[in-house]
Amino acid sequence: MRLRKLCALALTGMLALSAFPMNSVEAKGEKLNADDMDIPAILENTEEDGTVNVYHWWTAGGEKDAIESVVQGFSDAYGEIKAKSNAIPGGAGGAMVMKVKVLQQAGKSPETFQAHPGQEIEPYLNSDLLLNLNQVWDYANLAERALPGLEDLCTASDGNKYIVPIGIHKSNVIFYNIHVFEKYGIEIPDHENITWDEFWSICDQLAAAMPDGEYPLDLGDRKGWPACQVFEDIMLGTDPQIYEDFINGNYNVEDVTNVLSTYAKMMNYVAPDHSSRDWYETSGQVVAGTYAMQIMGAWMQPLMTSMGQVYGEDYGVFTFPGTDGWFGMCVDGFVVSNDSADVEGGLRWAYNVSTNEVQKSFSGLKESISPYNDTPDETYGELTLKFKNELTAEDTKVFPSFTHGTALPWSAATSLQTQIQEFATSSDYDAEYFANKIVNILKEAGVKGEWNLVD
Ligand code: GAL
Repeated sequence: MRLRKLCALALTGMLALSAFPMNSVEAKGEKLNADDMDIPAILENTEEDGTVNVYHWWTAGGEKDAIESVVQGFSDAYGEIKAKSNAIPGGAGGAMVMKVKVLQQAGKSPETFQAHPGQEIEPYLNSDLLLNLNQVWDYANLAERALPGLEDLCTASDGNKYIVPIGIHKSNVIFYNIHVFEKYGIEIPDHENITWDEFWSICDQLAAAMPDGEYPLDLGDRKGWPACQVFEDIMLGTDPQIYEDFINGNYNVEDVTNVLSTYAKMMNYVAPDHSSRDWYETSGQVVAGTYAMQIMGAWMQPLMTSMGQVYGEDYGVFTFPGTDGWFGMCVDGFVVSNDSADVEGGLRWAYNVSTNEVQKSFSGLKESISPYNDTPDETYGELTLKFKNELTAEDTKVFPSFTHGTALPWSAATSLQTQIQEFATSSDYDAEYFANKIVNILKEAGVKGEWNLVD
């Protein structure tokens, strides 16, 4: 796995802060400083009682079971503490940021909440709302246990750690219903790294064979982010250099127009009412055979499992065209508020997600790759193991997702999602018009990174 973040977060993080509406937040509770806490003693104290409010966005089938297993694992370790699971539906983290902001303003900071490392957590740092977790990293030996490149990704702009990763998913994936391909006599390529030509040919064949009301693709972008997810995949699949330039703030209208032109071409194969559904509803329709394929991150796997679908029998995956050899990195983790009613409880939660027991149960159910090298391969099903081997292969290149919090300032990422969803629901897919709008979003957010993805 090769990921060169370098000091990207440092630079872009500072710029992101001014654009985040949380700047004015003043937490009402007493702020604890990790330097004044004996963190090993806190983590080893399993007798203490308390309440830990855990906020997360795992509501889809499979994901829900996975987070419940973490709650169970927490109560196994810290039996006197009540962990309350609070689900904020929506996926991808956008709704979480707003929810946490409101809670923090009301003086009710959650003890711990789900986040992606990178840009998404920088605004909280600007407002000094997160507990420094360096000691947790030391205590649980996370730097040594983390998969290569991950420590770097989890190091904030000030050089400290504020997040404990719980799982990793590949984001540049297309899921397809094998039975639909069979039903319409469409040959499934014997390889997953399909080219753009192969992809268009599959789309053409499906479109010609499927009856009215059925479509080769659907987006499920009621929330906006799945449309943005497709945009970032097309961008990387068009030219990784464009992607690198984009997240570094070296954007230009021509490149973005080029990406959106491909997006417009893809829209010929997408169900016209795509934005009336959430991503998981689309997945249900893929299983039902109404849509043949869905462009979605690997977190769609546990949902497929929860619907009784078996990889290789009922569904298959392709790597998004043009992105062969690249792994879109989507990392989930937990951060800890420094001003909640039970900061120590939050700390224990964050630590506990990294333990071997929790990693085994969570990774199995979430079908995510464990961030830690001591989670045994037997934990994984066939497809997750394949993704894990891809991620850890020496020659795989990694790109950080901007739809999922890591690579762009939160404000820019959310505006992008809105614009791209508007593009996908527009009548004429005017690539240049929307490219201008997108470039302006990056300009206004002052995006400036130093990512080095391409050799
Ligand atoms: C991502 C997250 C995944 C999954 C997905 C859809 O941001 O990393 O684990 O939850 O959103 O909700």
